[in-house]
Formats: sequence, structure tokens, C-alpha cells
Amino acid sequence: MTKDGTNQMWGGRFAAKPAPIMETLNASIAFDQRLAEQDIRGSIAHVTMLAAQGIISDHDSQSIQQGLTTILSEISRGEFKFSAELEDIHMNVEARLQDLIGEVAGKLHTARSRNDQVATDFKLWVREALESADAAIRTVICSLLEQARVGANWVMPGFTHLQSAQPITWGHHMMAYVEMFGRDLSRVQDACVRMNECPLGAAALAGTSYPIDRHTTAAALGFSCPNANSIDAVSDRDFALEYLAIASISAMHLSRLAEELVIWSSAQFRFVTLGDHFSTGSSIMPQKRNPDAAELIRAKVGRILGATVGLMVVMKGLPLAYSKDMQEDKEQVFDAADNWALALAAMAGILHDMSVNQHALATAAGTVFATATDLADWLVRTLDLPFRQAHHITGHLVALAESKECDLSDLSLAEMRSVHKEITEDIFDALTVENSVNSRMSYGGTAPVRVREQIERWEKMLTDE
Ligand code: ARG
Repeated sequence: MTKDGTNQMWGGRFAAKPAPIMETLNASIAFDQRLAEQDIRGSIAHVTMLAAQGIISDHDSQSIQQGLTTILSEISRGEFKFSAELEDIHMNVEARLQDLIGEVAGKLHTARSRNDQVATDFKLWVREALESADAAIRTVICSLLEQARVGANWVMPGFTHLQSAQPITWGHHMMAYVEMFGRDLSRVQDACVRMNECPLGAAALAGTSYPIDRHTTAAALGFSCPNANSIDAVSDRDFALEYLAIASISAMHLSRLAEELVIWSSAQFRFVTLGDHFSTGSSIMPQKRNPDAAELIRAKVGRILGATVGLMVVMKGLPLAYSKDMQEDKEQVFDAADNWALALAAMAGILHDMSVNQHALATAAGTVFATATDLADWLVRTLDLPFRQAHHITGHLVALAESKECDLSDLSLAEMRSVHKEITEDIFDALTVENSVNSRMSYGGTAPVRVREQIERWEKMLTDE
């Protein structure tokens, strides 16, 4: 602050300081201090370029860089005093730089504006968040592959409408999630490529009259090139929205898996037992073992999708170029990133820790006429019946078994023949769940050989990359 209390960064034309409520509304330092490291990195790249282009002297550039490095270590040691009066991370850093090196600090902001500065900082942050997400998704995929490998041939019921549909293998079910998280991974990689254009040097919106070199700063910060349009560079938050959209889809995948774990760990299913590390007890019912971790993961999509919608609504209808509305981008992304990371890590832990009840899976796989489709297929294959007719006959057999309160395989041959006289003894082979899953050899099918091929493909893909 200056002596009359006006802002030292932009207060020249003001006679009075902001109202306290304005300061509270305006300040972003409480959350954008998470951009400190990116802000300083961006500033060092900028000031190095300014000196290389002869816009400021090498000597000034050196002292600015030293000052910035000192500030970075103050921040990492937790010694930096963030001030709401100085609004945001950019002005907090610059004000401290001035304390440390004096008036020359003011040269840092040559050929730059907070508009391109914040876009650059935030992009760097989101890019790093995507890199961490990449690693975290891989950990979940590895835990799923581990499950799939062990249970490649374990039979279980496959569901549609949450009704037993056809027998499948545990490995196949786990691999379905590998495909889903694999798509999340490829979305992360696509987004990294698309967003990798550097806004720095776009200045307030129109570019600058100083002879800057945006290609050098872009390269120094690991971007593939500068943004081609300075107005777009400072107005664009697509990268944040895309990050949130990817996080939302991935959180939705996590939610579906979490939901299955909640169902599967119930006493009615007993397909899995979640490990002690990821379960909780009840304070009143001593027998309870609650899947809290899975439930919380199931819920995370709510806030992550909420952030996506929140930022989309902030951006909707904003005129070009920068508007202060855009300051509302960060909390949404930070919150989503923290919770996505937490959910991915917890899911990897749950999958690693849980035990699977192979016996319960197999028992459930053989119930509720799970191999009825196999029976119909046998009629088609052996008796050359059209599938519709075979479906009809099978329906009669299911009704017969239901009336006798037994399974299809418990019907006698005579009972089978009472529905269709050409049925022979070997129909019973088609009714075992093992033969059912082994027969589903079509590409992408549930047969253990196919599942193992997919596991190998993924393992190879993950190690080759
Ligand atoms: N704190 C601001 C934000 O997060 C930085 C940019 C401010 N730019 C401006 N023209 N006031 O968006």
C-alpha cells in the first residue's frame, strides 16, 4: 500500500482505498497462492527473455531472478506472508520482490499483464495436474489388472438391469474398467497436447510493442508454442474446462466401480470383502463393516461435475477478452483436482486391499437360469432352429424349472423333451457356467483366453509407453 492507502500496484489514479467488502470480494490470494511456484517460474522465463532481447539489462534481470528465487524458498519454507490487501499471488510476489531488491522490481512487469500472467500460471498448474492424474489413473489400472490376472477364469454372474444375465468371468469384469480408465488416460494425454500453447506475452489482450520473443518463453516453460492470438490467449479457459470434463468422466467411472463394490460387499452378495484399511465400523451396530471409502468415492463425482458446470456457467456469455469473472476458475479446478486425486488413490488402495470370494461368485453365477441363452444357442446350433424359436422353447423350459423350483440343469431329459422332443442328453453340457464362459470366444468376449489376451495387451501397452 502507498501512504494514502491506495494500491501500490495500480493505485495511481485512485484517491481512496477499496472498501473492506471490496477487498474481500476481490482478493484471490487465499486460493491462488497455490500458483506461487508456477508464477515465479513464469516470471523467471519472462525476465530472462526481456534481458536476452535487450529490453532490460542483464544486471537487472539477474537481481530480479535472485529476488524471485529467494521468494520461492520463503514460500516453500512457509515463511512468506501472504496479504489480502495485495489481492493475488502476482501482486504478493511483486510487492515482496520490491521489498527485497527495490525499485528495479518494477521492471519485471514490462511487456506483461496479469491477464497473460494468470493464464500462464494456471495452465502450468493444470498441465501438472494432468500429469499427476496420468500417474494416478495408471495406478488404478494396475490394481485392476492385478485383480483380472488372478481371477481371469473365475465365473460370476454378469448383469443387465442389475438382474443376472449371463455368466462372465471376474477378469472380464475388471477389464471392462481397465478400458474405461484407459479412455480417461487417453483423454488426459490428448488434453495435454491441445492445451500446450503459452499465453505469456499476450499482455493485457493486444500483444505488446516491446520486441519480446514469445517462442523463447514458451519453450522455457515447456510449451510447444505461444498462443497464436493474444485475445484468445487471455480469454481462454478451455484447458481448465477440459480438465474438469475429463475429471468428471473419470469420477463417474470411479463412481460406477465404487457402487459395484458397495453392492458386492453387502451380506446379500458377499462377492468381495473390503480390507480393514478401507472400511469402517458402526458406533451402535458392532457387526457392521461399512464400505465408507467406496461410498465417498461414489459421491465425489457430485462436486467434480459441479465444478465443471460451475466454471462453464462462469465462462458462458463472457465477452472477450479478460473479465474478473475468470478469477472464479481456480477454486473449482483446485477442489476438483484434490478430490479426483483422492478418489483415484483410494480406489487403487481398495482394489489392492480387498479379497474376492471366488466361491460366492461361482455360486451366484449358476443361479437364476444364467445359462438360458446357452440353452437357446444349443438348440440353434444342434437342431438348426431359428434363434427366435429357440428363445421361445427355452422360455418354456425356464417356466417349467421355475414351477418345479429347480435349475435348468436339474430338469430331466424327459422333462426337456416334453417341451421339445429332439433335445438330447448333451444339452446338459451347454448348461454349465464354465462351458458357458469358455464358449464366449468372440473378440472382446468373456472367455478366459480372450481375457488373458486383453490383460497382456494392456500390460504391454503400459510398459511400452
Ligand atoms: N487474480 C486475477 C485472476 O485470478 C489475476 C488477473 C487480474 N487481471 C486483471 N486485469 N485484474 O484472474
